[in-house]
Amino acid sequence: MGFPKDFLWGGAVAAHQLEGAWQAGDKGVSVADVMTAGRHGQPRQITDGVKENLNYPNHDAIDFYHRYKEDVSLFGEMGFKCFRTSIAWTRIFPNGDELEPNEAGLQFYDDLFDELHKYGIEPVITLSHFELPYHLVSQYGAWRNRKMIEFFVRFAETVFRRYKDKVHYWMTFNEINNQSELEVPFTAFTNSGVLYKDGEDKKEVMYQVAHYQFVAAALAVKKGHEINPEFKIGCMLSYQPVYPESCNPEDQIKQLEKMHMRNFFGDVHCRGHYPAYALKEWENKEYKIAMEPGDLEIIAAGTVDYLAFSYYMSFVVSSDAAKMKSVSGGATIAVDNPYLKQSEWGWQIDPVGLRYALAVLTERYELPLMVVENGIGLHESKVGNMMIQDDARIEYFAAHIEQMKQAIDLDGVKLLGYCPWGPIDLVSAGTGEMEKRYGFIYVDKDNEGHGSLDRTKKKSFYWYQKVISSNGEDL
Ligand code: BG6
Repeated sequence: MGFPKDFLWGGAVAAHQLEGAWQAGDKGVSVADVMTAGRHGQPRQITDGVKENLNYPNHDAIDFYHRYKEDVSLFGEMGFKCFRTSIAWTRIFPNGDELEPNEAGLQFYDDLFDELHKYGIEPVITLSHFELPYHLVSQYGAWRNRKMIEFFVRFAETVFRRYKDKVHYWMTFNEINNQSELEVPFTAFTNSGVLYKDGEDKKEVMYQVAHYQFVAAALAVKKGHEINPEFKIGCMLSYQPVYPESCNPEDQIKQLEKMHMRNFFGDVHCRGHYPAYALKEWENKEYKIAMEPGDLEIIAAGTVDYLAFSYYMSFVVSSDAAKMKSVSGGATIAVDNPYLKQSEWGWQIDPVGLRYALAVLTERYELPLMVVENGIGLHESKVGNMMIQDDARIEYFAAHIEQMKQAIDLDGVKLLGYCPWGPIDLVSAGTGEMEKRYGFIYVDKDNEGHGSLDRTKKKSFYWYQKVISSNGEDL
């Protein structure tokens, strides 16, 4: 009982949040490169290209590009079995529409993957994690445009071929379902390079964008399996269970509708067809989603091998609109859960919700699952040589790991691995802060970009090392 012997313990990051070196090796400008630093409650600005005298925290990040050997050795010391990162699309195709890839970018990931393998660490790779080429936004309207399918599939095929013997676990679009939160510009921009225009029906645009992404993802799955039949190619969702505020049936219906929007993306990726509730909505609202003959067959043939998801929190919805408000830093409209505590950034801490998520996803799709993000952002500062005592992080992880164990032992969940978010402090995607820290490893850098970039181990470093060596038994 408990975690399987070959369980993939590791950590997860995204290229744009830690690599820095935003122009090294002819890298192009990505959507992450045009987002300024914000703060809790103060959204990041999305600028039209890179402007002078603004703070773009992803440009330098924690300079993993030059320091990856040191960082990988620390991951090795913790005993990582896997490491989830993304391949920055703009290192491989700087503008996104080139026909030939950029060798310097390809070589960087060859070197990184070789370094990981030295320590027996399996790379787990996201193809598109909030970092698509900005040129595709300014010249093509990004995923509003069907041409994106061709660009994405070329990128996917290039890296599948290049790393076919070095990488076996892949996933297509990070948290593809974030964009169902239509009121926050950040979600559509980071997922799809889309900024909604005044007066347009955002939801119809979102469905169109999603259709192109589903075709692209399915083509990538097919291509990947042709290149190496051993590849495991998954989708990636942000999974936040939604609870009804009360046993009032109207609250339950509100919950059902909210979960439709969260499940929509997984339903298509995993089952290979559009769910009835979406088709009915298109009919009722007279949405015209442009499709070409053969698209639905492509989607049906390109279902995923596993489902990866991030889990940070749960939400509560009410049928009483007056109670609903902006929560978790403005990302979602919901009501507070009186049974749960919140992090300093207003994210509700709900370990039991992770067991629930694992169980309902298993019931819905009957696929292996991977938790590829989970964690808590904390304010921490280093005083002299004192080790950071991040007991709150340890407590958070211990409670979540315990619930994963229950999902395996009691609900029959097939869980492939667990990658806590940001094993090393990095730039927050949501706020652009450095000081929203997730790491087992502290990085000396502040929100203004000052600091030595020195890495030091926190208390949780040794704790996670022990968790891995005991295969999740010693929490
Ligand atoms: C997920 C993303 O939304 O959550 C990551 O996939 C992100 O890129 C993580 O960093 C944590 O969010 P934040 O806003 O605290 O960085």
